[in-house]
Amino acid sequence: MFIENATYKCDCIDLDSEGNGVCKIDDFIFFVKGPLKGERVSIRVDKLNKNYGLASLNQIYSKSPYRVKPICEYYEKCGGCNLMHFNYYMHANYKKHIVKDLLSRIGKVDVVVNDTITMDDPSHYRNNVQVSFSEINGVIYAGFYAKKTHNVIDMETCIIAPQIANRIVVFLKRLFQTNKISIYNPKTKKGCIKHVIIRTNKNSDVMLCFVTNTTELEKKDLLVSELTKKFPKIVSILHNVNSGDTPLHLGNKTNLLFGTNYLTSKVLGVTFEVGLSSFYQVNTTQMEKLYSKVFEYLNLNKDMTLIDAYCGIGTMGLIASRHVKEVIGVEVVDEAIYNANRNKELNNIDNASFILGKAEEEIQKLVETKKIDALIVDPPRKGCEEAFLKAIIGIEKIVYVSCNPSTLARDLKFLKEYYNIIEATPVDMFPYSNHTEVVIKMELKK
Ligand SMILES: C[S@@+](CC[C@H](N)C(=O)[O-])C[C@H]1O[C@@H](n2cnc3c(N)ncnc32)[C@H](O)[C@@H]1O
Repeated sequence: MFIENATYKCDCIDLDSEGNGVCKIDDFIFFVKGPLKGERVSIRVDKLNKNYGLASLNQIYSKSPYRVKPICEYYEKCGGCNLMHFNYYMHANYKKHIVKDLLSRIGKVDVVVNDTITMDDPSHYRNNVQVSFSEINGVIYAGFYAKKTHNVIDMETCIIAPQIANRIVVFLKRLFQTNKISIYNPKTKKGCIKHVIIRTNKNSDVMLCFVTNTTELEKKDLLVSELTKKFPKIVSILHNVNSGDTPLHLGNKTNLLFGTNYLTSKVLGVTFEVGLSSFYQVNTTQMEKLYSKVFEYLNLNKDMTLIDAYCGIGTMGLIASRHVKEVIGVEVVDEAIYNANRNKELNNIDNASFILGKAEEEIQKLVETKKIDALIVDPPRKGCEEAFLKAIIGIEKIVYVSCNPSTLARDLKFLKEYYNIIEATPVDMFPYSNHTEVVIKMELKK
């Protein structure tokens, strides 16, 4: 009944969890990048599947009152943000709605979802950016990839990157250009520079890592001296070798070129050293609000033994250690465990320990040897293995932190047989994008 490449008029009835407009014609659904709920639009059909279609936005006939002019000139092309055309204050409702909807549809869980905790000022919130470089006809470009491509969108400034990172990228682009430092070409597989990773803390101290295709970083002494002269806030410069085409951001080998191989940050009164390959929440302001919600839900006391599963550099466990008898963290990345142990020493904490290993394997051993009173679960986007979920049944209090409400819903579908799912609070860790973080409070059924 529909034809590919043809255009149709329709209404956008919702936004899906990817931030796409859900457009309905009769009973057929099209997912369309761009339209907002309530808008009358025309769409061009890109692909038809049996039960739904994919389409592009052609024209808007009636605009949503929540449509705004994106504050970034690169927004239409860049693959970084996808909801900048939607009033930021409506993101709170959207993310709450997504959590409620996915928990109910996938998890069959009907739970109170509180208002999303948003940011007062959502600009420049990221403390970690990975900037890509390309060279076309001798001209070097730097920025993020265009949507669904590996074409670099050249940009002078990014609204969500830290200001100091924007200045460093502009400086580096000129430095590479004037010193004829080669840029990796994915077609010929030749050239040096692939990406630069920039991490910052609240004081705007900077860790910078050159990721290269070649074993050597061209003109490395010059790069280090020019960068540190221009930006005295740089405390760490690293060089990571990641040869050829690989989906991984980092290769196995990292060399220290300047300063320390970590960046220091303070979170809720505890000091943390963070290494290059260790996970660290990308939004420093929201991280403290997220963790505070976790501790409110746990309601810890000095008799409790707490497990911090998927603990990264030990952030939540070490902050909680002041309020419990014992904390045990489990994490699979060895640099993160190294950082966690170092962070324990740095803060004179003596009731925490960290295990290097897979949470789904280590949890089994822990619950067999100790009485565990409370558990923080903060897995990557793919959620938890079933072996992990089975092993935790019996722990009185669980707080699940998720950056992917779909896999959270799948895991809760299993856990709800054993746990009362008390409430959920979304926290906006990723303004201007559809990504949604959520904290869940659960208690063992009596
Ligand atoms: C979303 S991060 C959370 C980190 C930490 N809780 C925080 O707030 O900084 C997920 C962490 O799980 C780790 N991880 C991934 N798979 C794992 C597994 N199977 N077992 C243990 N840790 C894992 C990742 O390396 C990462 O540090």
